[in-house]
Amino acid sequence: MTILHIHGAGGDSAIHLNTSLSQLPSMMDGRRAVIITDENVWRHHGSTFPAVLDTIVVPAGEASKSLEKAGELLRRLVALELDRSSLVIGIGGGVVTDLTGFVACTFLRGISFGFVATTVLAQVDAAIGGKNGVNLDGYKNLVGIIRQPSFVLNDTSTLSTLPRDETVNGLAEVIKSGLIADRALFERLEDAVAAGDPLQQLDMGAAISAAAAVKVDVVNRDVFEKNERRHLNFGHTLAHALEKLMKIPHGFAVAAGMVAAARISKSRGMLTAQEADRVQRVIEGFGLPVSVPFDPAAAMDAIRRDKKRDSDRVNFVLLRGLGQAEVVPIPLDELTASLNSNL
Ligand SMILES: NC(=O)c1ccc[n+]([C@@H]2O[C@H](COP(=O)([O-])OP(=O)(O)OC[C@H]3O[C@@H](n4cnc5c(N)ncnc54)[C@H](O)[C@@H]3O)[C@@H](O)[C@H]2O)c1
Repeated sequence: MTILHIHGAGGDSAIHLNTSLSQLPSMMDGRRAVIITDENVWRHHGSTFPAVLDTIVVPAGEASKSLEKAGELLRRLVALELDRSSLVIGIGGGVVTDLTGFVACTFLRGISFGFVATTVLAQVDAAIGGKNGVNLDGYKNLVGIIRQPSFVLNDTSTLSTLPRDETVNGLAEVIKSGLIADRALFERLEDAVAAGDPLQQLDMGAAISAAAAVKVDVVNRDVFEKNERRHLNFGHTLAHALEKLMKIPHGFAVAAGMVAAARISKSRGMLTAQEADRVQRVIEGFGLPVSVPFDPAAAMDAIRRDKKRDSDRVNFVLLRGLGQAEVVPIPLDELTASLNSNL
């Protein structure tokens, strides 16, 4: 059990890695607490939750990340007479943690909250960093606030009930963490692929802890996402465009986006051909797509509209070797040519 710390503008956060859910009461400090979870997490793990004032179960899925659901939850907190000294705990994946954080940050202008992350994605990404929010009118994360949860608890044993697709989806972010900042993690993933049956071979607890440490480190160095935090967007510029164009899971879009970004890194002489092949083999090895069929013109249109656009260039995160990222402004013409040649 390791505890990492985030010292952010939105408060401090203790990230408890490889920690049993049974340790949750020790983080509650005897406060009046309410748990927010979703129906799947409740079904699989509800019997191990600590006794609290109330446990509120929301429907599983992105639709729960709404202002309407947040309003419902806020009214429940009022009815339960929670006060400034109370605690709200989100137990679930990124949907539950984003929603819980938003509700806790807005109730009485903000009360303490903590997360137990139960998906790979939440353990390495969504629960860490203090971004809390909901979707509005089809726009993702349009309404929200940056404030750190007082604690995050990662119990990898909760992942045993996670559907395989969700595990693979979250592993895209683990691979990304290795590629942008932790070569040893990438090589650990590579070894698991080489050994065959990587999901069985991989020490999930160790890989998740290493990936979570990458996010903690980046957030600590760039709380407001001005510089280094942009490295976390590796693979995401194209991924966001692909997600807009077709209905594919986020991790699948990120995987294809990382392969495309590795190819661009190679064409710019920042990555060797052999290194770019290694990126592709690991992504493929974990059952993630290395490409998805898309219309390059439509993807370019979506990228142009993306907030990362900077005049006739796009700020793209590229790799300078395995384990190191760099933000490079790429001319739109070069990007168009590259997307066309990737078909
Ligand atoms: N705040 C951030 O910095 C940040 C970063 C990345 C993603 N996100 C957000 O995270 C969300 C996606 O998160 P996610 O992938 O965890 O999705 P999710 O929360 O929808 O969980 C995926 C599915 O797994 C189920 N589930 C969760 N834990 C389980 C378990 N242990 N056993 C069985 N089933 C389980 C859920 O009920 C759901 O059906 C998106 O809304 C995204 O915007 C936020």
